[in-house]
Amino acid sequence: MQTIYRLDDLRAAVAASKTGEKTLALVPTMGALHEGHLTLVRRARDLADAVAVSIFVNPRQFAPGEDFDAYPRRLETDAALLAREGVDILWAPAPDEVYPQGFATTVSVAGLDEPLCGAARPGHFDGVATVVCKLFNQVQPDFALFGEKDWQQLAIIRRMARDLDLALPRADAIIGVPTVREADGLALSSRNQYLTPAERSQAAALPRAIETAIASLRAGGDANAALETLRTTLLRGGFARVDYAELRDAETLDLLDALGNRPARVLVAAHLGKARLIDNWPAN
Ligand code: PAJ
Repeated sequence: MQTIYRLDDLRAAVAASKTGEKTLALVPTMGALHEGHLTLVRRARDLADAVAVSIFVNPRQFAPGEDFDAYPRRLETDAALLAREGVDILWAPAPDEVYPQGFATTVSVAGLDEPLCGAARPGHFDGVATVVCKLFNQVQPDFALFGEKDWQQLAIIRRMARDLDLALPRADAIIGVPTVREADGLALSSRNQYLTPAERSQAAALPRAIETAIASLRAGGDANAALETLRTTLLRGGFARVDYAELRDAETLDLLDALGNRPARVLVAAHLGKARLIDNWPAN
């Protein structure tokens, strides 16, 4: 595996890995890798001849007061994990390589970035869309893989790639990978390490409450009542605040009050201790 820090070197490595008909898959990450990330990497290996993983804690997607400084950084451990998975290129740029002096451009996916995490984290998805657009241009992958855990992020990136004709060769080149979970159902996340042991056991209430709400929706129950029960369950279970608990169209993210013919998801964000946990589940 080549670990690359400079854009010129990246371009050379990408060109070398794409000789002939060879395909390249990209897995963008912010590091502190866990089995969720590694599952994306393994899926990338199955799909493409070569795999590039980026590790970049993107300052533009953290608002002032969020956990940018505290966000775990452990490049050496991550690099060892990726080498073991047979990754070809680790792209680990320094902030000034991604955002040089005078950087002035923002990619904004209007509408899709307003509800859900966009409401609680203004500007967050501009930061995500901008950096992912840059990563696509830098690496020029044939496939890019993202976790369904960050469902709104996935929807925004798909929309951006379509709107900007980003040079991904196939319509299905952006691949969503189902959420990887702990045995008790909690979605793996780099932020779970902010939880104390007691909070960690309370955290499993989140996926359980979503499952219960979906069972009720599928049985024909009222969506607002099911989501209100979900909120109350979390607050009684030790969560300090629920940012949102909603049923939405999986693609357009339009708010729904009942299941219909189109794929829908129940999406939740809630605060437990120092962590803000998000999760979502297919509702139909
Ligand atoms: P990060 O939080 O490091 O996540 C990198 C990728 O791993 C994302 O696509 C995310 O959805 C996926 N992922 C995280 N936890 C997962 C889990 N439990 N199961 C499956 N996939 C999981 O998301 C980001 O970084 C950034 O916003 C990024 C896209 C890299 C842009 O900076």
